[in-house]
Amino acid sequence: MSSSDTLTLTVDDDGVAQLTLNRPAALNALNTTMMTEFSAALRQVTDSGARVLVLTGAGRAFAAGADIAEMRDRTFGDMTDSNHLAAWEELADLRIPTIGAVNGFALGGGCEIAMMCDILIAGAGASFGQPEIGLGIIPGIGGTQRLTRLVGKAQAMDLILTGRRVDAAEALRIGLVSRVVPDDDVLEEALVVARQIAGFSGRAARAAKECVLRADQTTLSEGLLFERRWFHSLFAFDDQTEGMTAFLDKRPARFTDG
Ligand code: HXC
Repeated sequence: MSSSDTLTLTVDDDGVAQLTLNRPAALNALNTTMMTEFSAALRQVTDSGARVLVLTGAGRAFAAGADIAEMRDRTFGDMTDSNHLAAWEELADLRIPTIGAVNGFALGGGCEIAMMCDILIAGAGASFGQPEIGLGIIPGIGGTQRLTRLVGKAQAMDLILTGRRVDAAEALRIGLVSRVVPDDDVLEEALVVARQIAGFSGRAARAAKECVLRADQTTLSEGLLFERRWFHSLFAFDDQTEGMTAFLDKRPARFTDG
């Protein structure tokens, strides 16, 4: 377990890392310290050999967005010279599967970080939104892009141009999250899913993630070719033989990442 000013990180023996945004008094508002510590924590996750990452927030929010108090007096020069916010994108670049366990508010940058996760599980009381329009700005870490790809132009425009919030049930209906569970169960549900994925072949899980994400980046024919090449590649590894042999032997597979 390691803690910094704004985050808590644990990695368990099953290969599941749990990273908690931990500024509950400010509803886990994302400030520069947190961004720097987040970047370092992701490096720790990678170095630890963790196979799946669960990301959640302490208290009554996943994250209520970028820290407005910190941002208010920033100038264009400050923002552009420091390429402010770019480091958050490192979450999307992580090769292992990531699961967002969304408790409470996921607003602005909080919603955007949630959308960088591969699987999103929400507590029934969670709410999502891109309220930046009310602050005189727009989403800055993927809201206009990832939300549009996830829920389509009509819903994305509605949410981004009005700043309205959607509850967990609506988030499920429009395809923003894949599961809604009681609030008290959200972290445990995410950890169960994480342990399940961590028990599969790590190579297969990473390949599946890379192929699904490719769908947003390329044409169908290129994506299909990319997928087929990965499919062929997995036959280079012992885990494919083990997975299929275990099925035929009617026993659980013992994947070794070999
Ligand atoms: C700084 C924040 C904050 C934020 C909440 N707080 N959100 N501080 N930045 N984004 C602080 C409040 O000031 C308050 O501090 C404490 O957290 C509790 O919040 P309350 O407002 O008292 O709670 P509540 O009445 O329950 O309202 C919850 C809320 C509201 C609806 C989530 O806090 C809210 O609207 N927050 C701002 C949401 C937002 O606009 N997010 C977008 C930010 S811009 P004190 O000290 O008073 O107790 C953004 C840009 C994205 O994200 C760019 C990429 C990162």
